[in-house]
Amino acid sequence: MSNNASLQSRRTAAIPRGVATAYPVFAARAENSELWDADGRRFIDFAGGIAVLNTGHRHPKVIAAVKAQLDAFTHTAFQIVPYEPYIELCERLNALAPFSGEAKTILFSTGAEAVENAVKIARAHTGRTNVIAFSGAFHGRTLMTSALTGKVAPYKKKFGPMPAGIWHVPFPVPQHDVSVADSLKALEYLFRADVDPVNVAAIIIEPVQGEGGFHPAPPELLQGLRKICDEHGIVLIADEVQTGFARTGKMFGIENSGVEPDLVTIAKSLAGGFPLSGVIGRAAIMDGPEPGGLGGTYAGSPIACAAALAVLEVIEEERLIARADTLGARIKGELARIARRNDTVPMEFVRGPGAMIAFDVVKEGGGSEPDADATKRVTQAALAEGLVLLSCGVHANTIRILMPLTISDDILAEGLGKLEKALVAAQG
Ligand SMILES: Cc1ncc(COP(=O)(O)O)c(C=O)c1O
Repeated sequence: MSNNASLQSRRTAAIPRGVATAYPVFAARAENSELWDADGRRFIDFAGGIAVLNTGHRHPKVIAAVKAQLDAFTHTAFQIVPYEPYIELCERLNALAPFSGEAKTILFSTGAEAVENAVKIARAHTGRTNVIAFSGAFHGRTLMTSALTGKVAPYKKKFGPMPAGIWHVPFPVPQHDVSVADSLKALEYLFRADVDPVNVAAIIIEPVQGEGGFHPAPPELLQGLRKICDEHGIVLIADEVQTGFARTGKMFGIENSGVEPDLVTIAKSLAGGFPLSGVIGRAAIMDGPEPGGLGGTYAGSPIACAAALAVLEVIEEERLIARADTLGARIKGELARIARRNDTVPMEFVRGPGAMIAFDVVKEGGGSEPDADATKRVTQAALAEGLVLLSCGVHANTIRILMPLTISDDILAEGLGKLEKALVAAQG
């Protein structure tokens, strides 16, 4: 039995099915945009640990910073004995905040925890309870964030009742026949039919929906939401957990729209593979909760803070924001060429800002009917070619590309070659 096969049978016996794994290959080691499995097979990583590795696996600067922190101390709990790396990181993040005026930042461990706390902060600041999110959104797997998530299976199925006070409006996606006007109209209608805007604490939106299918929020939608939030005293939360840290060709995805949010949730690529998340926000809003109301034993771990400080340096030194645009343009060009072949699964709607690129697999070229089965065949064929590739989308028919922004031109070309072969193989 191969090492992968034996690990797969141990995994099945010891670990519940609730934590599903995409592939039966187990990681042994990884470097930048490559990883090797337990059987010694090499893969190119177009998943980046689900958008965590914008600076690649084990960036030498991140590893050096973590090693130095390990030699100093590993944990004291910021709430008991605080430490400089947490403060320094918050200072750096405040300076990067995608809004004008004074900012404050608080740190946690996971993306869901950041979203949970953004809701708590918005509620404490406004004294209101309701929160509006979008269909197709993904905000996490805790109960509050499952409630905010706009997809039933598998995130809400069997887990109800969901927390009260959460409402959804449709997210504009042209290929799903929902326009910005439809979304804004639905929001106005929600205010008439279901919830008084004076009782709404926050509207939360991903600048580009991640798990929901890499659908960018059009600037007109974000401008409309900003106006509505200003009119009714509602806090606008940008969930930047997947879009953050150079992926979209800006430090934060919302900067592509010119709209300023009030709170920003961050995680994933913030700390280059170490568990760290946070909320950056307008200082007056951030100081809403009482002392002791926010925090967590491991929140803002010093090891993760050291990693994040190195990540911010790497983004600047290696010009990863500009690199995201270069990589994205190259990927879009290649996808357009591949889509013109007649022997691949039908591909439509290549999209995304910077290097947050995706396309849909559809039943017929020129159409928009989703083909989830063909999408699965593509990711399986990619794995067989030695490429770790992720799908997403409410209809499970989107292929997303999340390679590290530190990937070399040669390895990107090799990965795109594998993707092309998989798209042909999946057509059969
Ligand atoms: C936009 C967004 N918000 C929140 C989360 C939840 O993050 P975590 O899985 O770290 O809890 C995710 C995870 O994919 C995400 O993409």
